[in-house]
Amino acid sequence: MREVLEQIKERAISELSKLEDLKSLKEFKVKFLGKKGEVTQLVKRLKEVAPEERPVIGRLINEIKQLLESRIAEKEKELKELEKQRRFEKERIDVTLPGRFPAFGLKHPIVQVMEEVVDVFRSMGFQVAEGPEIEEDYYNFEALNIPPDHPARDMQDTFYVSDRVLLRTHTSPVQIRVMKKYPLPIRIIAPGRVYRRDFDVSHTPMFHQVEGLLVDEGVTFAELKGTLQEFARRIFGEETKVRFRPSFFPFTEPSAEMDIGCVICGGEGCRVCKGTGWLEILGCGMVDPEVFKSVGYDTEKVTGYAFGLGVERIAMLKFGIDDIRLFFENDLRFLSQFV
Ligand code: FA5
Ligand code: MG
Repeated sequence: MREVLEQIKERAISELSKLEDLKSLKEFKVKFLGKKGEVTQLVKRLKEVAPEERPVIGRLINEIKQLLESRIAEKEKELKELEKQRRFEKERIDVTLPGRFPAFGLKHPIVQVMEEVVDVFRSMGFQVAEGPEIEEDYYNFEALNIPPDHPARDMQDTFYVSDRVLLRTHTSPVQIRVMKKYPLPIRIIAPGRVYRRDFDVSHTPMFHQVEGLLVDEGVTFAELKGTLQEFARRIFGEETKVRFRPSFFPFTEPSAEMDIGCVICGGEGCRVCKGTGWLEILGCGMVDPEVFKSVGYDTEKVTGYAFGLGVERIAMLKFGIDDIRLFFENDLRFLSQFV
């Protein structure tokens, strides 16, 4: 019996040392110390032992039981620690890896350019004014010295909402609204959307303009040129080439258009500048006395200049885009380049 005990003890201890996970430890515990376990069974075999030996053997069995219990507890602690390490290894997070960022929206390139244009004029002392996109014929045409049968209405093929109501074809109606509402002197810019029946590489049916209006006494054309030249330098750089061409607008006299040397072809001539090497970005002039009359000013005293620039044209030149329609196709591969 003593030998049997010794063998079981040796075998149990050697098996225990080989266990590698908690599951086999549990099985091991059942195998030796469970109800039908080998050590438990030994107690039942006590009756085979001579009565005088029973207390000694009984104590030995107890000792083995206690020994195994304490060894199992040690092993359990050891294996738990091991399994924790294994789990950590498996779930390890590399905190130095770059994160996954949500896609951020960004401002449309036209909005970016419009804000830049507005900032330049604000820094020169202009204030921002606004007017409605759905406008009355009176503000869009009539008060600007464009009577109903005037040929200039053809230049701006108009979307009509009704007889007297239309989508504004330019930001110039804001001039009238501002002059009717605020006292002199006036120095404003009016950024916003405008609409025309127009569609090719440099024209879209909806585009953006920034209107400028300065009204005071003794305003000169030289001041207008200086302001616009400075604007062009601030937007396109010191070396920018600009030229003023005589032009016609019913609401200014004299009138001019300002061109920028085409940066897309470097002045060689391309499809955007229609082979001329120049791209028109704005119309301007001295406010026509007829306009001042429609808002009730004394035309002997009051003078002023106005300009209206095309934001898309400026964006095309700044970014080297040769088709204005790209701005409105909502293709993220295009739009996400303008960070
Ligand atoms: C006007 O709209 C005048 N109201 C400008 C003005 C204001 C003159 C104040 C004098 C005093 P024009 O039709 O030329 O002018 O347009 C002004 C600018 O808008 C053009 O120089 C061009 O840059 C831009 N533009 C005109 N039509 C389109 C279009 N369909 N798509 C994109 N840009 C356009
Ligand atoms: Mg024009």
